Parts: sequence; structure tokens; C-alpha cells
Amino acid sequence: MKNADFLTGITTSGTPHLGNYVGAIRPAVESSKNPNLTSYYFLADYHSLIKNHDPKMRKQSALEIAAAWIALGLDYKNCVFYRQSDIPEIPELTWILTCLTAKGLMNRAHAYKAAAQDNEENGNKDADKGVTMGLFSYPVLMAADILMFNAKKVPVGKDQIQHLEMTRDIAARFNHQYKKLFILPEVVVDETSAVLSGLDGRKMSKSYNNFIPLFDTEKRFRKMIMKVQTNSLGPDEPKDPDTCTLFSIFQAFANESETKALAERYRAGISWGTAKQELFEYINEILKDPRETYNELIQNPGDIESILQQGAVKAREFSAPFLDKIKKSIGIQSLG
Ligand code: TRP
Repeated sequence: MKNADFLTGITTSGTPHLGNYVGAIRPAVESSKNPNLTSYYFLADYHSLIKNHDPKMRKQSALEIAAAWIALGLDYKNCVFYRQSDIPEIPELTWILTCLTAKGLMNRAHAYKAAAQDNEENGNKDADKGVTMGLFSYPVLMAADILMFNAKKVPVGKDQIQHLEMTRDIAARFNHQYKKLFILPEVVVDETSAVLSGLDGRKMSKSYNNFIPLFDTEKRFRKMIMKVQTNSLGPDEPKDPDTCTLFSIFQAFANESETKALAERYRAGISWGTAKQELFEYINEILKDPRETYNELIQNPGDIESILQQGAVKAREFSAPFLDKIKKSIGIQSLG
């Protein structure tokens, strides 16, 4: 196996939603099909330990996310599709990198800072209340995911840019301290559609509980689209597409000319009912066939497991010898 041209992970802590599709799955599926690229895609199940403490949910989420990627067309034969926890070299590398990572660097991580600030605002004397070492050192595990396969490019949502900066920082430290083994990975952010808005207009996210699941029944999917918040403008009044959540969701799925055409109808006055119905129909058309494949896969988890196992074998063809090389370079090696 070659090192990764592209690598990205998806945390197994919920049901796959439209935001995951637009931000991670869709671009991954595209490059998974490219015979000239080596793409690595994985279920970040160790990352999910940070927030989710429910074993059943974690397992279910891994199943749903793997099924979603496959149903949406991931070419798992051409790329490397695996589960993080099947690659023991990743946690090993995590520790090696942890010992090179400045605590001050982690102090500046957005997720940690947000938790500390929440504590402060809620009057907690301990700024670190509820903060585990997992949350605190999350960026190191992410750096290990990426550096383990010497990934050149990492497609992620905007909210992950800082983690990539940290990864580069950690890689550079290793290269400087020991041996120049790591490529400094580049972040790839799709500016137009990487972060999708959710029902309430904020970023679509499990944490805000404002997400639209990818593979619900058609009926429930329509219901969710109808729940997207709009304003109180009447049916004929001109509307601003640029501040409209419905519009931004449409934009993430449609091509440029379709988007332009809808923007004009907004400015001319379109009723919210029509806008919602059309959005539902548009996305439903895209999801219809994958929905069937998804349901079949969910019924046959053994098939998914075997795909993941084959992926782990491929991934370890790279990670096992590379970790040996890394360990040698730090003086952890056979004495004989
Ligand atoms: N932290 C990423 C997220 O929440 C998921 C992730 C884990 C990841 N490891 C990664 C993404 C490595 C890219 C590369 O979206």
C-alpha cells in the first residue's frame, strides 16, 4: 500500500446526516473512484469515546456510518476503507506524538477552550470541570490518524482547520527532533459546501440536534425538510436567498445554474411551502436509490464487517512497517 493522497475520518457518534454527506462523504466518494489516487477513509471510533458513553449507540453508529458510505457509492475496492480501532499502530503512534506535543498547543484547541469557557460562564470554579484527557488531547489522536499514513491532503469541514495546523506542528516537531519521516499534511476545505446549515440555521451538527438524517423513511425525511426554520415573509414577498437556510441546503446539492435559477425565484417571491417541497424532491431524488442499498446493508452487518476487515489489512500494509520505522528512529527497537 502507498501512503495516502487523501485521508479523512468520520466520528462514529451519531446517525449520518446531510451535513456529513456534503462535508465528508460526497467528496470522499468522488476521490475513492479515482484510480490514480490512494484514498484512505475511516470510521473514527476511538474519537467517539470522547463524547459518547453509550456502547450500543457507538456500535450502531459505526454500522450506520459504514453502511451510508458504502450505499452512497464509496469505491471500497479502489480505496482503503477501515475502522480506526482495527489499526493498533494508531494508538501507538498517538503516545509517541503525545510526548512531543506541547501542552500549551492543546490549551489553544477550540473544543477545549469552549469547554473551559462554558465552565467559567456557568460559574464553575474549576475551568476543567468535565474535561477528560481524551477531550484535551483529541488533536493528538487526530494527528496520529493522519501521520500514520503520511497523508498529503486531508479534506475536512472548516471547523477542523485548527486540528490540521496542530498536526503539521506536531509532525514538524517530530521531523526536527528525530528524523524527517512525516509529510506535513495540507487541509482541503470545500469553501462552498463544507459546512451545511441545520434546521435552526446553525451548522448542521449532532451536538446542536439540528440535523437531518440521510437515511430515514421518505416520509420522515420530508417532515424534517418541512421543519427547517424560515422567516415570516408571505408567499409573494421577495426573499433573500443568502440568509436562507433552505437555500443554503439546496445550494450544497445543486449545480451553479440550478442555484442561480432558484435565487431568482427567491427574489421574485416564492412561498416557503413551495421552496420546502422542491428542496425535498430534489434531495430525495439523489437519496432514493442509496436509501434502498443502505437498508439492505443494515440488514447484513456481516457484509459490512468483512469490507472493513479487508480495509484494515490494506491499511496495515502501510502502517505496520511505517510504525516500525518510526519506532526505530526514536530508539525503540530490538536490542539484538
Ligand atoms: N475530528 C474529525 C471531525 O470531527 C474526525 C476525524 C478524526 C478526522 N480523525 C481524523 C478527520 C483525521 C480527518 C482526519 O470531523
